[in-house]
Amino acid sequence: MILSDKDKALLDGNSGAMARQAIEGLIQLGQAYDARDMVDIGYAHIHAGMAMYLGDVELIESLADSGAKMAVPVSTNIANADMGNWQQTGAPEKLVQLQKRAEKAHKSMGSGTCFTCTPYWAGHWPTWNMHMASIESGVTTFANSVLGAKSNRDGYFAVYAGVTGRYPRFGLHLDENRVPTHRVQVEASLSGTADFTVLGYAIGNHVTNGIPFVTGLKHRPNLDELDALGVGMATSGGVAMFILPGVTPPYTDENDSRAANLPSVCIDDRQIKDIYDGFCTGLGDSFDIVHLGCPHASFEEMKHYGALLQGRTIHDNTQLWITTNRNVRQMAKDAGLLGPILASGARVISDTCPISCHFARTCSPDSKLGVKPVELKAIVVDSAKQAHYIRDMIQCPTLLTTTENAVETAISGHFYPRF
Ligand code: F3S
Repeated sequence: MILSDKDKALLDGNSGAMARQAIEGLIQLGQAYDARDMVDIGYAHIHAGMAMYLGDVELIESLADSGAKMAVPVSTNIANADMGNWQQTGAPEKLVQLQKRAEKAHKSMGSGTCFTCTPYWAGHWPTWNMHMASIESGVTTFANSVLGAKSNRDGYFAVYAGVTGRYPRFGLHLDENRVPTHRVQVEASLSGTADFTVLGYAIGNHVTNGIPFVTGLKHRPNLDELDALGVGMATSGGVAMFILPGVTPPYTDENDSRAANLPSVCIDDRQIKDIYDGFCTGLGDSFDIVHLGCPHASFEEMKHYGALLQGRTIHDNTQLWITTNRNVRQMAKDAGLLGPILASGARVISDTCPISCHFARTCSPDSKLGVKPVELKAIVVDSAKQAHYIRDMIQCPTLLTTTENAVETAISGHFYPRF
């Protein structure tokens, strides 16, 4: 690999031992993918340090203790507990205290501690042609597709990128790889974020880790629907970028020659219904929690929830969880939206979500943390991503429906399906 003077200085330890370790790791990553050199990044969305695993928090603390500082703007991904209102979810306090140790470490390194899967709603908004790194697949897909930034689906390497401000040039950091691999013709009637997570899920099933060129949508998706679309694709497949000509940069023409003669697939209402049905594994009216806000809700979504819940009361036998990031929660509070939402009995939760909190059965938490498996009849959701991971990680039934029907479900105690 060709190394710049900046890379060589980092290797020489001019920015400290941890930055040297980080650049060594990134060089190894680049060599594994035949990267010819490294690029400057403008932003990184990094691992939170998950409190379910003591060693994971200690890893972040060791970075901070070494004096490492983030070289670029950085945001933090989802965590295992709401550090401000953990009682709402029944999280053990010891787990929360451990999570707060990771928060303290991130603050000392200069990271923005939003602990969210939607850092863009918290103000982290990478721009066209900006190289970046991200641990969260939904962030990668939104940044590549909607914002025109350049990111791979990273793991812990995003932390190394944040510490050094560098990343090896491979994958979607190369323009020649940012081209469509499949044509997707949408013939389904879609409305709202739940439908768009399901459409994305259907597309991901077909294109696996390709780049779909999507046509046929009956309306221009709003930002929340674009976010939902990418999140769905990144869940069922390894998608990191999608193209909606005329909506996502830089493709403007549905007849773009780069999308000619590609393998093609059609998504119709039947396929959308099949995915909803496949994630309705619970018994109609037997559920414990209704969840909204996967990915973490935007301010616009909080407005929508507020309007749906105004003057209404959640049924005694259920809980309504709304997950959003801290920043949006504060914006919603300032705008007077939290009042009607909380008055309905709904819980507004930040920093985590059902599958990321202590509910996950696929985690092996430290026995001293007091995390106990929770028995759940079912969780009602309005996101194919949340349904997919509840199935795999909490291992309880799901009931997938629209946002509006999920709210009616929470109020009535009876499940309102999409179809
Ligand atoms: Fe975010 Fe949890 Fe959904 S991390 S994308 S709310 S599964």
